[in-house]
This record gives sequence, structure tokens and C-alpha cells, in this order.
Amino acid sequence: MQSTTPALPARVWDRFVRFFHWSLVSCVLINFFLVDDGETLHQWIGYFASGLIVARIVWGFVGSEHARFASFFPTPARLRAHLAAIRSGKADIHLGHNPLGAVMMLSLMVLVLALGISGFLQTTDAFWGEEWLQEVHEVLASALIALATLHAAAAIVMGRLEGVSLVGAMITGVKRARRTAPGASASAPGPAATGLRRS
Ligand code: HEM
Ligand code: HEM
Repeated sequence: MQSTTPALPARVWDRFVRFFHWSLVSCVLINFFLVDDGETLHQWIGYFASGLIVARIVWGFVGSEHARFASFFPTPARLRAHLAAIRSGKADIHLGHNPLGAVMMLSLMVLVLALGISGFLQTTDAFWGEEWLQEVHEVLASALIALATLHAAAAIVMGRLEGVSLVGAMITGVKRARRTAPGASASAPGPAATGLRRS
């Protein structure tokens, strides 16, 4: 993988990725906490969330540089390099998703799709009233909320540790060096000088 040191700030997330992310967050939270009765509104929101995932998969092939799967797909080689960097205590900051973040985002997307499919099946004659399918749907929903909580916490903590505005970037599209990185001094090298990768 190419390793360069582009300067921050850098525009990383295009409009579609940001719309996708915050719409998906809203759909999942509304369906889990507010409209969890399986009625029409729940179904529409669930289908909309599933549609967002399908659109994101297409965008992963035709979208902007950092949105493309090719730039961040967590291949074994990328994962090994990332884990080795973490073990040796080196900063391995990526302009797009880092390989572990990519594993998480793909898992979240798979869970939302599985919820869409298990939800749809519950509405069909073949599976109507099947308790095991309701259980599956419920377990998938709980797993999604647990992983998403871990994901949000990791984004906040990693952003602080690496001195990069990860959450801010998902709002504005622009990744910046944080001015108040813990332990950073005015003269300390920013993330752009500590092994920032183009992917
Ligand atoms: C973002 C996607 C979704 C999430 C997070 C989600 C979450 C949930 C949750 C938390 C429940 C309540 C489970 C319980 O405690 O009984 C539920 C129930 C249900 N969901 Fe979903 N759901 C999603 C998508 C869908 C879709 C797309 C459909 C159908 C088209 C669907 C159909 C149902 C039905 C029929 C129930 C009632 C099941 C029962 O009787 O227990 N869901 N869902
Ligand atoms: C139900 C809750 C959530 C789900 C399902 C979810 C899902 C995702 C997905 C699929 C991506 C990949 C975006 C893409 O490339 O298109 C992503 C990225 C991201 N999410 Fe979330 N997310 C959730 C909640 C949150 C919350 C609450 C925050 C903020 C604290 C957050 C912060 C981020 C950040 C910063 C990234 C980019 C990570 C990076 O720089 O590699 N997410 N999320």
C-alpha cells in the first residue's frame, strides 16, 4: 500500500457518504428505540435503510476516491500491516477508513441488510408468525446496536488519540488535525507527519 504524507486538512467524505451515514444512523436508531413494533412505518424505515446499503455498495465502485472499496477494502495484507503498526506503537493514520474501521463498517452494513431480509421474510406467507425468525431479527438488531456503540466510541477515542477530527470529517467531509490532541504541543508534528496513508 502506498504511504505518503498528504497535508491536512483534506476533503475525504463526499456528500453521498455523509448523507448515507447520518441517514443510516437515524433509521437504525428510530427503528430500534422508537418504532420497534414491526408495523408499516418500521418496515418502510427498514427498507429505506436497506436501500441505503445497496446504494452505498454501488457507490463503493463508482464513488469518490475514499468511498471506493478498492481504496480501503480490508485485505489480509492491509490488516496485517495495520496490526503490525499498532503493535509496534507507530501511528498508522489513514486518510480514508483504516483496515479495522473498514471491517467494522462492512459488518454494520451486513447487519442492516440481514435485518432488512429477516424483516421482509416475517411479512411473507411462508414465514408469517415464525418465532425463530422474530428471534433472529431481534438478535441481529441487538448485535447492530452493540457494534454501532463500539464503532461510535472507537471513532471518538481514535480521533483523540491520533489527533484527527474523525467525527467532524463525517459531518463536514473534511479531515483536519485536531488543535487539542492530548499530549500534543504547538511544535509537535501533526498526523500529516506521522505516517498518514492515502487510503
Ligand atoms: C434498520 C433495520 C431494522 C431494525 C434496526 C429493526 C429492529 C427491530 C426491533 C428492535 C424489533 C423489536 C423486536 C422485539 O423486541 O420484539 C423489530 C421488530 C420487527 N421488525 Fe424490524 N428492524 C429493522 C428492519 C425491519 C424491516 C425491513 C422489516 C420488514 C419489512 C421489519 C419487520 C419487523 C417486524 C414484523 C417486527 C415484529 C416482530 C415481532 O413480532 O416480534 N424490520 N425490529
Ligand atoms: C447506528 C449507528 C451507526 C451506524 C450503523 C454507523 C455506520 C457506519 C458506516 C457504515 C460507516 C462507513 C461510512 C462509509 O464509508 O460510507 C461509518 C463511518 C463512520 N462513522 Fe458511523 N455509524 C453509526 C453511528 C455513528 C456515530 C454515533 C458516530 C459518531 C460518534 C459515527 C462516526 C463515524 C465516523 C467518524 C466514521 C468514519 C470512520 C473513519 O474515519 O474511518 N458513527 N459508520
